[in-house]
Order: sequence, then structure tokens, then C-alpha cells
Amino acid sequence: MIDLHCHFLPGIDDGPELLAEAVALAEAAVANGITASALTPHVHPRRYPNTRTTLQHEFAAFRQALQDRAIPLKVFLAGEVRLSPESLELFLADDVPFYGEVDGYRIVLLEFPHEMIPVGSQQFVSKLLDMKIRPLIAHPERNKSVMNEPERIRPFVDMGCWLQVTSGSLAGHFGKPARKIALQLLEDELVWVVATDAHNLSARPPDLAEGRDVVAELMGPRLARRMVLERPARILGIDPATLEACR
Ligand SMILES: [Fe+2]
Repeated sequence: MIDLHCHFLPGIDDGPELLAEAVALAEAAVANGITASALTPHVHPRRYPNTRTTLQHEFAAFRQALQDRAIPLKVFLAGEVRLSPESLELFLADDVPFYGEVDGYRIVLLEFPHEMIPVGSQQFVSKLLDMKIRPLIAHPERNKSVMNEPERIRPFVDMGCWLQVTSGSLAGHFGKPARKIALQLLEDELVWVVATDAHNLSARPPDLAEGRDVVAELMGPRLARRMVLERPARILGIDPATLEACR
């Protein structure tokens, strides 16, 4: 499996503080059946002022630490970009960490504020699409507006956004309302990928298998495989067969 959303880089955001904790997260991911993880530190200009440039050094050091310990997890650098006027500046300056490119569009993990979908969000997304950037919207099932009114996310899908639902939401770890919305989005065929959004081993571990199993049970194993392997591989521009081979 490939995890497109996790916070493993130490000392960067609200993920692990220490390298040892970060390495333990990577080991847990491998034990869960994850062969590649896109690391997505918060890119939130006021709270976590990370950019593609500033993250390069920490990313290279962490990748080296995994290699030194022979941990068979392939890592990629991306970022979870908070929708805000300041982050639009970062997009314009081309200093946002993207995944890869699919059909001429660079793919970015985009996070709405948890409490709402701000006024102007559709214009923001439209501007990104004009710039040939396709948002993968992070965990819509945990957004208060979407929880109250699930149809509010549909216009973004109609515009061309993809949706990432959290594995733990499908499994019920974020409460009943988030689970209900996650299942509804799944049944409405609005979900593009499932990812962990892992932060730590205690409360938010890198468990992608549990979400995959929920998808497999409800929608069949083929769609589950698409959501945790084939689509993530395409987004990262890698061949899943090479990952299987390196295990
Ligand atoms: Fe996240």
C-alpha cells in the first residue's frame, strides 16, 4: 500500500518531535503493509511556516536515517497545504511541496480549516486549476461544514478536486459522525484515495489496512486496491510493481 498523507518528519509540525519517534512511525507503517509514504508536513504560513525549500534538508536527513536502519519504506516529500490567502502567495511563488503530476496537473494535498469551508474557497480552487494544479482535499469527512451538510463538498469534486478520506475515520476512530460521512462519501463514489494522516503511535498511528478493509467490504477489493495503491502510485508517478519488488 501507499500512504499519501502522514506526518513523520520530526520537529516540523504536530507530528513526532524526535527522530526515534519518527523512525518508529516508519517501522509501524511497514508492519501495516505500507511500502511507500508521502510525507505531508503542515504548510500553514501562520502556524507552520514550511515551504518546499525549507523542508528539503529535513526530508533528506530522514530518508537517510531510514536507509541507515534498512527500513524498507520508500518516502516522498509533499505537504498538507492549508487553504489561506498566505498559502496562495506560496503557490504563486512556486514554493509548495507537490506530490507528482497526473495528466499535466501537479497534485497538492489541500486542507480546509476544520470548522468551515471559507467563503472564496471555490475561487481559490479555481485559481489553482487555472495554474494546472489539482487539489486532493484532505479529510473532508472531518470538516464541520461537510459533517453538517455533506453536499457542500460536491461542487469541489465537480470542479475537478479529488478527495482523500482518512483510514481511521472509516474505522470509527474519529467518532460516529466522521465515520458516517466517510462511508457516505464512499458510497456516493466521491472518494479518490484513502490515507492515514498518521501523527503518532498512540492515538493516530499509520494504519492504512483498517481503512482498506472497510472499503473492500463495502465496495469490493478492486476499488480498495485502487484507493490505497494504484491511484496513490499514479499521483506519485511510480510503478507499484517496483514497490512490491523491493519488499
Ligand atoms: Fe494531516
